[in-house]
Amino acid sequence: MLVLGIETSCDETGVALVRDGELLTDVTATSMDEYARFGGIIPEIASRAHLESFVPTLDAALEKAEVELGDVDAIAVTAGPGLVGPLTIGVSAAKALALALGKPLYGVNHIVGHLAVDQLVNGEFPERFIGLVVSGGHSHLLRVGNIATDITELGGTLDDAAGEAFDKVGRLLGLPYPGGPHIDRLSQQGDRYAIGFPRGLSRGKDKVRHQFNYSFSGLKTAVARYVEGCEARGEDIPKADVAASFSYAVVDVLLEKAFNACETFESDTLVIGGGFSANSMLREIAAERAAKYGVTVRIPPIRYCTDNGAMIAALGWSLAREGVDPSPLSVTVNTGLPREQIVLR
Ligand code: KG4
Ligand code: ZN
Repeated sequence: MLVLGIETSCDETGVALVRDGELLTDVTATSMDEYARFGGIIPEIASRAHLESFVPTLDAALEKAEVELGDVDAIAVTAGPGLVGPLTIGVSAAKALALALGKPLYGVNHIVGHLAVDQLVNGEFPERFIGLVVSGGHSHLLRVGNIATDITELGGTLDDAAGEAFDKVGRLLGLPYPGGPHIDRLSQQGDRYAIGFPRGLSRGKDKVRHQFNYSFSGLKTAVARYVEGCEARGEDIPKADVAASFSYAVVDVLLEKAFNACETFESDTLVIGGGFSANSMLREIAAERAAKYGVTVRIPPIRYCTDNGAMIAALGWSLAREGVDPSPLSVTVNTGLPREQIVLR
């Protein structure tokens, strides 16, 4: 079973080929370099970049995998959530290929793909696990029975996603866009205990009412106030300490709730995915706490954390293996696709 995976929900054009659960190749083109001067992704630029990159990226993937288009048994493409223009380019291309090749098409959920990719590198999933998906647009806790058929959302962010909060704090500290990786590097030179930033929805009634929800907007405001305070006093901003203490506040609450979900739902495995799972502090503290909770933590290597085609090919392979019905060729895109819907119909 050879599955072609296509990802175009944001700025990355990703094409990958998976054969029987083994990744043959994964090629990515990105338009991220064009956004530093805007401080954010411009959807029209991203759409045009996907249109330009798609065929060369597909050709490169086929060549590297040493397969022909005619060898492909199924096609999977991100159908949501994401930006409408970029999603439409990928879904249109996938539909054209499915029609021309006469092969099944799966319009799939990007968020679920961030977890699905883990099985390509860390092996078969256990019978059930807790999934934490943390990216630029999303922070969700999911209970997964079967990656192809059974996902329940436990909670998610009520405001900013983890990566988004990092990008915004990056801007506050005068770092280039996207701020996530820059704050990560800076925080490695700082003291995570230097400043006691707040942990959203982690105390008292909030904690009870929002057991598995996140909120990062109060934390972001606290960082802004701290930076303003330094400026008002004419002091240098201790950027490394701010970055480390802010990172710790985000990582601490992300993991606390994820491990609590493992306890509550008696899951001995936590799978973490999404662009923010590239974060070094998240990886370090997750490994530390894994031992304490007796939970196995699985995080894919960094190149499979940010958006890529392998995640979509991996999910397509899981769907095909479970015999899930493909999407109709009339499938469109859904920018707000619910987490529990794995395939768009
Ligand atoms: O999953 P992704 O590539 O795209 C979305 O689906 O959103 O995630 C991108 C996000 C950005 O917000 C970026 O700043 C963040 O992931 N990110 C990081 C790191 N690497 C990427 N955040 C913190 N630390 C990192 N090392
Ligand atoms: Zn993503």
